[in-house]
Amino acid sequence: MKRIAIFVSGNGTNLQRIAEYFSNSHDVAIPLVVCNNPKAYAIERAHQLGIPVRLITKKDINDTPFTQDLTGMHIDLIVLAGFLWLLPKCLIQAFPDKIINIHPALLPKYGGKGFYGAHVHEAVVAAKEPFSGITIHYVNEKYDSGAIIFQAKVALDENETPDSLAGKIHRLEQQHFPVIIEQVLNRQNP
Ligand code: GRF
Repeated sequence: MKRIAIFVSGNGTNLQRIAEYFSNSHDVAIPLVVCNNPKAYAIERAHQLGIPVRLITKKDINDTPFTQDLTGMHIDLIVLAGFLWLLPKCLIQAFPDKIINIHPALLPKYGGKGFYGAHVHEAVVAAKEPFSGITIHYVNEKYDSGAIIFQAKVALDENETPDSLAGKIHRLEQQHFPVIIEQVLNRQNP
């Protein structure tokens, strides 16, 4: 059985989709949700899904015991699903090639500090890009710059707005993220 920890900061639609996708799986379990925002709706979703939530502070995430707790739980993959903090070196080093993130644009464009949530879609629409999409990538010590695992594209319409683009991106995330997680887990050594 592979064990995933999902890190969230906000709404948690990806968390919900991933949990539902694996809900009848005998190969994948989600024993933990980690959240840095006590007001995140993702916490409510985790409760409804029956997944324990660990609420963390900046100090927690940077301290060794947090990393040790995760290694102690035998987590095979950390999935950042709308998690807005940079991860500390100790955590990244403890989970080599075992942390992935989803970004709501086609990296390397529209990534890095400040490019999150609606800011990404506003910038893409303002630049009149013909396409946007999603990028699923490994996580390193800089925002949005680890090796790319998967991208999917979507065309912008002439009258596209940041909101309408967000909807398109959301649908791509729901379609692809759980499937790519499954593939990443299947590629890991047993
Ligand atoms: C998603 O658009 C994801 O690409 C980005 O943050 C958003 C999280 O949405 N990293 P949700 O919390 O899963 O609804």
